[in-house]
Amino acid sequence: DWTADNVVAEQVEAIRAQIGDARVICALSGGVDSAVAAALVQKAVGDQLTCVHVDHGLMRAGEVEQIERDFVAATGVNLVIRHEKERFLAALAGVTDPEQKRKIIGREFIRVFEDAQRDIVAEAGAHGEEVRFLVQGTLYPDVVESGGGEGAANIKSHHNVGGLPDDLTFSLVEPLRTLFKDEVRAVGRELGVPEEIVSRQPFPGPGLGIRIVGEVTERNLEILRRADAIAREELTRAGLDGEIWQCPVVLLADVRSVGVQGDGRTYGHPIVLRPVSSEDAMTADWTRLPYDVLSVISTRITNEVREVNRVTLDVTSKPPGTIEWE
Ligand code: XMP
Repeated sequence: DWTADNVVAEQVEAIRAQIGDARVICALSGGVDSAVAAALVQKAVGDQLTCVHVDHGLMRAGEVEQIERDFVAATGVNLVIRHEKERFLAALAGVTDPEQKRKIIGREFIRVFEDAQRDIVAEAGAHGEEVRFLVQGTLYPDVVESGGGEGAANIKSHHNVGGLPDDLTFSLVEPLRTLFKDEVRAVGRELGVPEEIVSRQPFPGPGLGIRIVGEVTERNLEILRRADAIAREELTRAGLDGEIWQCPVVLLADVRSVGVQGDGRTYGHPIVLRPVSSEDAMTADWTRLPYDVLSVISTRITNEVREVNRVTLDVTSKPPGTIEWE
């Protein structure tokens, strides 16, 4: 009988058998999969686990705080946060090419994670222990879709924890390998992972860095963060979260258009709303959002985010469009 508590009991036992009394680390992205995997391992081996969150400065409003506060409060996990915004912004300065952005973000992520790992090993080494295991939130569809490579790998370089290099000498702990997304969510709820994390929609590893068409600067990130927070708030308020697979909000930083506000001319940036419906992200259709919800989002963004004077809707399916713009 498939029940979440059976899965938890089985996995806890399997994880204990695999890890013994060794130390284990987990890169926590803020997404559902790594959070639930970490919570399972935490339940199994407690303090032997250290989670690392790389704060690359490309997260949406409130996300780092949510991990720091809510996830730790719910699970009691050891968490190391590496605040590395400056490092990522410096590496991304002047870069507008999407693939280049992805490669830079992936590369810097690995470096920061390796630094964190070194520090944890150094600390643990004092107690005669080594970190030998790495937790990954790999799901069943990831396993099926072939050895880690997504179908879209030749279209975009997907950056996530799966992109860690081979020469990190860890044994992998993958407690979600047999589960589908909805099952992972059920297991997460069983473990008391906060609902805001469990029900979260997919969000790409490179974060807002690939939702800015143009250069990733502090200013552009701030504009996008404010617009994105408004769109998310209104979609949630309208009860549409369950219906939408995800809704990227994209800033066209390289584009400007003329507008009017009060008596004055404006020359601002467009925001694109990209709501999609999908089963597995391999194909997608644009979601027919109610006009009144679109209207509220548009009015609020153009009123509240001074640099934005136009809100547009992406009505392209995948294919030919991808879900993200970069
Ligand atoms: P695309 O844009 O290829 O996106 O249609 C398909 C799904 O993958 C997510 N995505 C990523 N996830 N690292 C991730 O972990 C990435 O580099 C990445 N790029 C896209 C995207 O949000 C969508 O759910």
